[in-house]
Amino acid sequence: MSTQDGRVDGRVRAIVQRWAPHGRAGLLPCLQEVQEALGYLSPEACRAVAAGLRVPEAEVYGVVSFYALLYDHPVGRTVIRVCDDVPCYLNGSAVVVQALRDHLGIAPGETTPDGAYTLEVHPCLGRCERAPFLLLNDEEVGPVRPEDIPSLLQGR
Ligand code: FES
Repeated sequence: MSTQDGRVDGRVRAIVQRWAPHGRAGLLPCLQEVQEALGYLSPEACRAVAAGLRVPEAEVYGVVSFYALLYDHPVGRTVIRVCDDVPCYLNGSAVVVQALRDHLGIAPGETTPDGAYTLEVHPCLGRCERAPFLLLNDEEVGPVRPEDIPSLLQGR
């Protein structure tokens, strides 16, 4: 995480140093690694990436705001991404989302007060054959049933 005076910590410096020789070509993987380390891409981290890779800050923010899987704000330790595109919707994704809302007490786009979960609804996640499909961070789950939700989230 960034320090209170706005400097970035050693993890970000190390990641940026590793990707610096790649310049612009290293921007996306560098941002992904920084996010993995910090949980999200703070303004200080984005500035450090821009300076290290010699890419305009506006371009860094453009990439962060374009990709749905990059965050410029803190999210839950587990991000639940439910696909609601046509195949998943036709196979019950709306019921799965409702089960998650009921179980977690949050709506899509929100994070539980304890910071454990963020719930998101996404267009196609590329696993239509497993509809309805969701991701628990990087873990693929599908087809998922509403009754699976409590056991899926247990211990996370
Ligand atoms: Fe849901 Fe493709 S439509 S994963």
